[in-house]
Amino acid sequence: MQQTRARAASQTKFLLEESQLPRRWYNIRSDMPTAPLPVLHPGTGQPVGPDDLAPLFPMELIGQEVSEEAEIAIPEEVLEIYRLWRPTPLYRASRLEAAIGTRSRIFYKYEGVSPPGSHKPNTAVAQAFYNRQEGRTRLSTETGAGQWGSALAFACKLLGLECKVYMVRVSYEQKPFRRSLIEAWAAEVVSSPSEDTQCGRAIREEHPDSPGSLGIAISEAVEDAAGRDDTAYSLGSVLNHVLLHQTVIGQEALAQMELAGAFPDVVIGCVGGGSNFAGLAFPFMREKIAGREIDVLACEPTACPTLTRGLFAYDFGDTSKLTPLVPMHTLGHDFVPAPIHAGGLRYHGVAPLISQLVRDGLIRAEAYLQNDVFASAVLFAGSEGILPAPEAAHAIHGTLQVAKAADEAGEERTILFNLSGHGHFDMAAYDNYFAGKLEDVALDEDEMSRALHAIEGLPSPA
Ligand SMILES: Cc1ncc(COP(=O)(O)O)c(C=O)c1O
Repeated sequence: MQQTRARAASQTKFLLEESQLPRRWYNIRSDMPTAPLPVLHPGTGQPVGPDDLAPLFPMELIGQEVSEEAEIAIPEEVLEIYRLWRPTPLYRASRLEAAIGTRSRIFYKYEGVSPPGSHKPNTAVAQAFYNRQEGRTRLSTETGAGQWGSALAFACKLLGLECKVYMVRVSYEQKPFRRSLIEAWAAEVVSSPSEDTQCGRAIREEHPDSPGSLGIAISEAVEDAAGRDDTAYSLGSVLNHVLLHQTVIGQEALAQMELAGAFPDVVIGCVGGGSNFAGLAFPFMREKIAGREIDVLACEPTACPTLTRGLFAYDFGDTSKLTPLVPMHTLGHDFVPAPIHAGGLRYHGVAPLISQLVRDGLIRAEAYLQNDVFASAVLFAGSEGILPAPEAAHAIHGTLQVAKAADEAGEERTILFNLSGHGHFDMAAYDNYFAGKLEDVALDEDEMSRALHAIEGLPSPA
């Protein structure tokens, strides 16, 4: 044991063999102390059934959405594609520890080694696979930062499907090279709100300068899929099956922490819709629910403080009210977050599974200003070398807060965070930060109350 610890202390990367890739996804629904509330049909107020969802999703994914099985087998063809980049490395951030002079040990799981550069293909490949298996030939989707759109384009290209991406306008303009990457994988990409859908045209008419939002882009992608038999809709976060597919991250991390001779006291991730956070945290939550003490921290932007200031309520997943009603922390479906650079965190809601665990006190959340987050990103790049995606930098900032608090209390923690993606396509954001042009945005009370009016009259959760 002592030898393992000594080796772990001097080792930087903890790597698994391809043969150690998890062969099953972990379904936290089987272990949750409080079962999540059902998703409701907005017309009837009753729980939605498989038939309601069939126009948008393949049956296998609808089954996974409501499954109570603890583990679900990963199809061999999906595993084969995962092997292009998985298992991903887990690092000991010794240089970061030295840079901040902490007594705590910091580890991070790095998902930026995938071809599109983030955790998103873990579910994109699975979703494209099941859609193809059930005869769909085309997928439509939204993208915030462009990470999800490029991940789905990549998955569709490898599995032989067409793909159309509605890209939130600010990101479309801020990240032209994410667009090119989507096109390199042969998908079609348009700026959202677009002229291609009824809801896009309506929003453009009312708000010609709309920066777009994930809520708007989801409306467009859902409308696209609902209008064509050959097309299914694919969502990059929020839904139970998406979080399920991401659990390969945490399962690998459990094995890698064991290689490092350590176990985390604190597990941290950034939260947009919640998929990378859940991917890392849920396999550790399984241990927490079984009695192990772990502090699980979700990090979000102050400009879109869904978990820290949103209401737990039934709300639509999109702006134009095309989706079912989802029980989640929300800022209201017509809330358009300020155009901060962590585009992937600009979503009015969050995954119902995470919302329920926050309600049950098993997960806590903090919100940060973007200049503070970028300062932490640059500190990280200067010590560990990797330039993080602005979304992932929220988890870095959260980690630094936890380490600092522990040092001030004279304590020592083992911290594990998810570095969900690299920031190589986010250089305009870094340029703005270096030029002192990033605005710090904290959502003001008036705008929050205005946006929350949108959920008045919708069913209330029990
Ligand atoms: C690198 C990265 N991290 C995190 C997120 C946030 O999404 P989620 O909360 O689903 O992980 C995104 C979304 O685009 C992203 O690109």
